[in-house]
Amino acid sequence: MSSQPAAPGPDRRIRVAVVFGGRSSEHAVSCSTAASVLSAIDRTRYDVIPVGIARDGHWVLMPDEPEPLRLTATNEPAVDGARPAVVVPTSTGARDLTVLEPGEVPRTLGRVDVVFPLLHGPFGEDGTIQGMLDLADIRYVGSGVAASSLMMDKHLMKVLFASAGLPIGPYAVITDRAWRRDPEAAMASIQPLGWPVFVKPARAGSSMGIAKVRGPHELRAAIEAAREHDPKVVVEAAVMGREIECGVLEGHGTDPPRTSALGEPAVVKGHEFYDYEAKYLADDDVRLTCPADVPPDVVTRVQEMSARAFEAGGCEGLARVDFFYTAGGDLLVNEVNTLPGFTPTSMYPRMWAASGVSYAELIDELIALALERRVGLR
Ligand SMILES: Nc1ncnc2c1ncn2[C@@H]1O[C@H](COP(=O)(O)OP(=O)(O)O)[C@@H](O)[C@H]1O
Ligand SMILES: [Mg+2]
Repeated sequence: MSSQPAAPGPDRRIRVAVVFGGRSSEHAVSCSTAASVLSAIDRTRYDVIPVGIARDGHWVLMPDEPEPLRLTATNEPAVDGARPAVVVPTSTGARDLTVLEPGEVPRTLGRVDVVFPLLHGPFGEDGTIQGMLDLADIRYVGSGVAASSLMMDKHLMKVLFASAGLPIGPYAVITDRAWRRDPEAAMASIQPLGWPVFVKPARAGSSMGIAKVRGPHELRAAIEAAREHDPKVVVEAAVMGREIECGVLEGHGTDPPRTSALGEPAVVKGHEFYDYEAKYLADDDVRLTCPADVPPDVVTRVQEMSARAFEAGGCEGLARVDFFYTAGGDLLVNEVNTLPGFTPTSMYPRMWAASGVSYAELIDELIALALERRVGLR
């Protein structure tokens, strides 16, 4: 086991542990992202260690094979928790990953320079993995604990944005306690929002557990469905308008965040909104336009607000900021994703490609930003 090996340089490849799968409902989406990163990452610069987290939470060593990890209408990829276990250090000074196989002596995979968490949703995008890595002083791509957990939680994110003067739409929160105490009162509390409303789990993603509710008769079932994902539920007034997105990339050193060309996802048929099927399973049902066809002043306003949202949350590395653009010309921040969809055809890499940064360059840039960062509080 190495104590102080040489820093990564031209003579030594950077060792990257790509971590994917995870315990959230976005397990398959994360595997699919990993397939893309494993295919595109520059093997002359990086040694890649693929680490899967099974749905049951077991960390395992995965084969370095992208194909079985791709998500299609006929393949739902998953990490097999029965594979050889991987142990990640949780104390400072230890930087080696260890593999445990039944009946074998523990084997080291060597030191890791940086972890690339390709995890979406709770137990990955929400600060939990980030906290675990912070305990061991291991560098990782993307936001730290506080920004990750704030942006994962659609309630706390709105509180933060309201205090930062960023425009958000009307909403209400139904906590677990409020619901268990008096569901009728909780449902009555959302009346001021009018109809329709969007009912969402506070901490989910990929549109999981989200429903558009047209009237009171559908409300209880929608809240109960959202609670399957998260006991805290956010209810929002439906916003009529287009969806516009912007990619943010942290600046180097003390530079301000960089913002990309804008993108517009539009559901073209058969979906009430931008739901899970439209996002991942039905290639033809959604059209991603990049650059979005909006006036230049809207581009400027969206980019400026995206950088402000990134800074307000203390985000690091990358984020995608999603807006509603109403017919009246108003912009509302819908949400920030600290680990946005990250396949080459996902909106975040596409918006950067339209801004002159290729997928492989984006991976290089994110790893470089992670390696520049100091460990500990920052
Ligand atoms: N308040 C709203 N008004 C109109 N459409 C909404 C609203 N909230 C969500 N949607 C629709 O639902 C989709 C998913 O909601 P979002 O909050 O982005 O959740 P997720 O984190 O799962 O992506 C959005 O992309 C949009 O199509
Ligand atoms: Mg979204």
